[in-house]
Formats: sequence, C-alpha cells, structure tokens
Amino acid sequence: MSDLRFFRSGGIAALAGTFALFVAGGAQAADIAQGKEKADQVCAACHGKDGNTPIDPSYPRLAGQHGDYLRHALRAYQTDQRKNPIMGAQAKQLSRADIDNLAAFYASLPGQLSHQR
Ligand code: HEC
Repeated sequence: MSDLRFFRSGGIAALAGTFALFVAGGAQAADIAQGKEKADQVCAACHGKDGNTPIDPSYPRLAGQHGDYLRHALRAYQTDQRKNPIMGAQAKQLSRADIDNLAAFYASLPGQLSHQR
C-alpha cells in the first residue's frame, strides 16, 4: 500500500516537473533582435559591433560561439563563479531574458572560431 502512495506522489512530482519545464521553456524563448539591440547599446563598445572586432586583442570574440556556452559564461559572471571585474559588472546589469537574447544573438553571427553547423 505504501508502494502505491509512493507511485502516486511520484506521478504528481513528474507532472509538476513537466509543468515547470513548460513554463521555463516559454519564458526562455530567446529574441535575437532584442539581443542585437542590447548588444549594440552595451557590448559592442568592447566586443565590436560584429562580435568579432574587440577593442583590445585580449577581449574575447563572441561571434559564432555556442549559445549555451555564452549563456553559461554570462550567468557565471553574474554569480561570480567566473571572476572578472569588467564582465562581472556588465553581467550584473542583465536580466535572465537579456542573457538568453544576447547569447542567441552572438551565436547567430558568423564566427571565426569554429565551423558553422
Ligand atoms: C568594458 C568592456 C566590456 C563590455 C562593455 C562588455 N564586455 Fe564582455 N568581456 C570583456 C572582457 C575584458 C572579457 C574577458 C573577461 C575574462 O577574461 O573572463 C569579456 C568576456 C565576455 C564573455 C566570455 C567570452 C568567452 O569566450 O568566454 C562573454 C560571453 C561576454 N563578455 C559577453 C558580453 C556581453 C553580452 C556584453 C554586453 C552586455 C559585454 N560582454 C560587454 C569586456 C567587456
């Protein structure tokens, strides 16, 4: 009998998990146009308008990097898991949606670092 109860609560947890994924998925639909707008306003100053022409050779090229990686990097700066005074300050100004949009935008640009799929 306790087996049955366990099964039921598991079923509800699975359902709740599916719902949470659905909600998160909806909120995360990245908008490349909005990403570009923000990038032009803020990020282009250092990373270049095309994400390939940083103002200093030590600044990374963002164009064509994987969206997952860019998103991860920005969240890491935001939470100080990746420590950098410049990017830490930049990332802390960004919302979750900004990060998704910026990552999608830079990932969509032709990069020089990797082959395009
Ligand atoms: C004032 C200059 C400056 C501005 C503005 C700036 N960045 Fe950066 N960015 C840097 C520097 C310097 C690094 C390298 C930091 C390090 O070594 O971790 C960097 C690194 C990054 C990285 C990590 C790239 C990699 O290959 O790991 C990402 C992603 C990034 N920036 C995104 C952005 C976005 C998005 C914006 C706009 C919201 C932005 N940056 C604005 C200077 C800047």
